[in-house]
Amino acid sequence: MIYLDNAATTFPKPNEVYKEVLNCMENYAANPGRSSHKLAIKAQSKIMETREMIKEIFNIPDPFQIVFTSNATESLNIGIKGILKSGDHVISTVIEHNSVLRPLNSLMKKGIEVTLLKVDKNGHIDLDKIKQQIKTNTKLIIINHASNVIGTVQPISAIGKIAKDAGVLFMVDASQSAGTINIDVEESNIDLLAFPGHKGLFGPQGTGGLFIRDEAQVESFKEGGTGSNSSDMKQPDFMPDKFESGTLNTPGIAGLCEGIKFIEKIGMKEIYKHEALLTEYLLVELKKLDYVKIYGPNDLKDRCAVVSINIDGVDSSTVGYKLNEKGIAVRTGYHCAPLIHNIIGTNNKGTVRISPGYFNTFKDIETILKSIVDIYKQ
Ligand code: ALA
Repeated sequence: MIYLDNAATTFPKPNEVYKEVLNCMENYAANPGRSSHKLAIKAQSKIMETREMIKEIFNIPDPFQIVFTSNATESLNIGIKGILKSGDHVISTVIEHNSVLRPLNSLMKKGIEVTLLKVDKNGHIDLDKIKQQIKTNTKLIIINHASNVIGTVQPISAIGKIAKDAGVLFMVDASQSAGTINIDVEESNIDLLAFPGHKGLFGPQGTGGLFIRDEAQVESFKEGGTGSNSSDMKQPDFMPDKFESGTLNTPGIAGLCEGIKFIEKIGMKEIYKHEALLTEYLLVELKKLDYVKIYGPNDLKDRCAVVSINIDGVDSSTVGYKLNEKGIAVRTGYHCAPLIHNIIGTNNKGTVRISPGYFNTFKDIETILKSIVDIYKQ
């Protein structure tokens, strides 16, 4: 199978990831932070090593500002629902994923005021519009760093500065960028960074994390055992225990650790460059096919490795079905980000999303291009 669905989850993973998950399961998957025997200590130290790796990759000041979660959706829910209270105002955009739109939609019914800024047809946000929408009760700005539908990359440092100048918290959804596009929480004034472990960081599914700059500003809705203050029924208020109740996914986090080491070994710039070259080749060749509509920015520097298209006269799900039959994996339909489809005009048909990853080759792209031609001509 030629796997071009890396925006959903990266596949395959580096070999080191598989090996460490198995090594952990076989040799040290005890409960981290709960007991004082050797295996629990080994599990805990692997978790700590992963925290340190995440701290380094995002330039996070303190590894204990990182909370392990099961995916970016959980991270976004913790931040959004933990910060916003009745009477607060939040600014976000129509390019967001449902992991932001759905929590905001349900919070609207609880007295939270939501402004969703429009984007242009290439997914760009007008930064002046963000400034204009900030009010005295604006508590939070949430921005999708890179779109999972049309690949648009937003200028998070410029938005972070707007938020900081206005004294508003800034949360970034790094689902499609973490591990591929450099993110520096200090330089971009990010207060909360939600990231998946299983996409660009090459960890297993069921891993993710949330950087929280100041835990006092976020209420925790999950309470339970943390291995700390165990004789007290009150949830600890210190990091990361405030948000990390329950046994962590130690084998997954151990694999994530090796995924991040792999990025460091290859170099994030190299990974980005390889994906960008594949994306450029794909875009250049698709543009030659007048029956293919391409969505998203023209300029490669405004894009991650996510390309949505439609083929004239062929439904997106039919294209996905036929590609699957030819041994090619893509995602089709609405990609859990409903509002951006109004903007790009694909409300009634969705798109075919091609998302190359580090392990794809130019031959893979050549093969999908040939298949697209065949599907149109059939
Ligand atoms: N959010 C993931 C995607 O875009 C699952 O496919």
